[in-house]
Amino acid sequence: MKPIYNQILDSRGNPTIQAQYKELIVAVPSGASTGAHEAPELRDHQEEYEGNTVYKAIQNAQHLSEELDWETITIADADKKILDTDKTKKLLGANATLAVSLLAGSIQANREGKQPYELIAELSGNKPLLPMPFANVINGGKHADNDLMIQEIMIVPTNAHTFAEATRQVTETYHALKTILKKRYGGASTALGDEGGFAPPITHIEEALSILIEAMSNAGHKLSFAIDAAASEFYSDKGYEIRPGEYMTAEELIEYYVHLIDTYPIISLEDPFDEEDYASFAKLRKKVRIQIVGDDLTVTNTQRIQEAINQESCNSLLLKVNQIGTLTEALEAAKLSKDNGWTVMVSHRSGETSDTWIADIATGLGCGEIKLGAPARGERVAKYNRLLTIEAVHNLAFAQWKNI
Ligand code: PGA
Ligand code: ZN
Repeated sequence: MKPIYNQILDSRGNPTIQAQYKELIVAVPSGASTGAHEAPELRDHQEEYEGNTVYKAIQNAQHLSEELDWETITIADADKKILDTDKTKKLLGANATLAVSLLAGSIQANREGKQPYELIAELSGNKPLLPMPFANVINGGKHADNDLMIQEIMIVPTNAHTFAEATRQVTETYHALKTILKKRYGGASTALGDEGGFAPPITHIEEALSILIEAMSNAGHKLSFAIDAAASEFYSDKGYEIRPGEYMTAEELIEYYVHLIDTYPIISLEDPFDEEDYASFAKLRKKVRIQIVGDDLTVTNTQRIQEAINQESCNSLLLKVNQIGTLTEALEAAKLSKDNGWTVMVSHRSGETSDTWIADIATGLGCGEIKLGAPARGERVAKYNRLLTIEAVHNLAFAQWKNI
């Protein structure tokens, strides 16, 4: 018996790949603010779905599958076949390879009587741990139509003791935020961005952070903040366009971030500079004692992570499996980062499905951090619910936050 691959829709209504073998089903996510160095998705560029169909990638997954034994498949077998065929995924497409890799993972775990997170824990040599959720509640950048240039403002329940408590704190604060936004900017301001956060007509980061302080106080919780600037998206040869028509140099942006970090309880800052600017990352990292996360900079790719280690650009990896296209390489990226003293945050993409593999990867790696959007929209809630279920059924420990 061979897997069945078919085209389904992601949360933005764009085509993506689902793979199925008996009762096991997986699906592939897709980014919008993608890093230039990610392993590329394969799209057909024909008329249907504005060129976004994935029929060729499905064919590639089918061809790979014909040469694999699916009764005895392991992640290692599937990924070896993929890497031997096309290590860059430029021909196969990282969407095709990830469908094969995740399905192999689901089948191996199932055959061995394990949960996916138990298999990941075993393969990576880590003790499973429920991760701290990083919940993106205010959206800007490419994920929203407002003038906020930075992409994500997240709340992090660093005082919670269980994942269930963490989820409650995040959700109650998110609801309190909605009430404030509605009152201040009107009903239209609570429309949701791609990751379930609100996209109010805010231009200044400080305004967003102050409103969050108020929301926390109204909800009765004390949370920390995290930012994903996704700065490549507002960088050009004119500099960093921090507000429409208002540019900063990298040096000015460093000082601005330092000011924000001094003023608000920010514990993590992702992609603060352009994806080629290892040096500015390093300058900021030396100035502040928080988590500096590489996403577009490092793209879950061990070569780029090694460069960031050499230049001391980050102290944390954002791990997105579809940036590299196989589970094996994603685990290698996590290991290289951890071995060099970095933290690891497993992440969703802005285009998601109800697939919950990332919840299991974060838990199995024992890395203690997951970025999974707001507690809204089915594809985001699916990840919260998977983690709530792992906690309820398997009684794992929940990550405690340690400041850097
Ligand atoms: P993306 O954004 O999935 O649209 O690339 C997420 C991120 O930048 O972390
Ligand atoms: Zn990012």
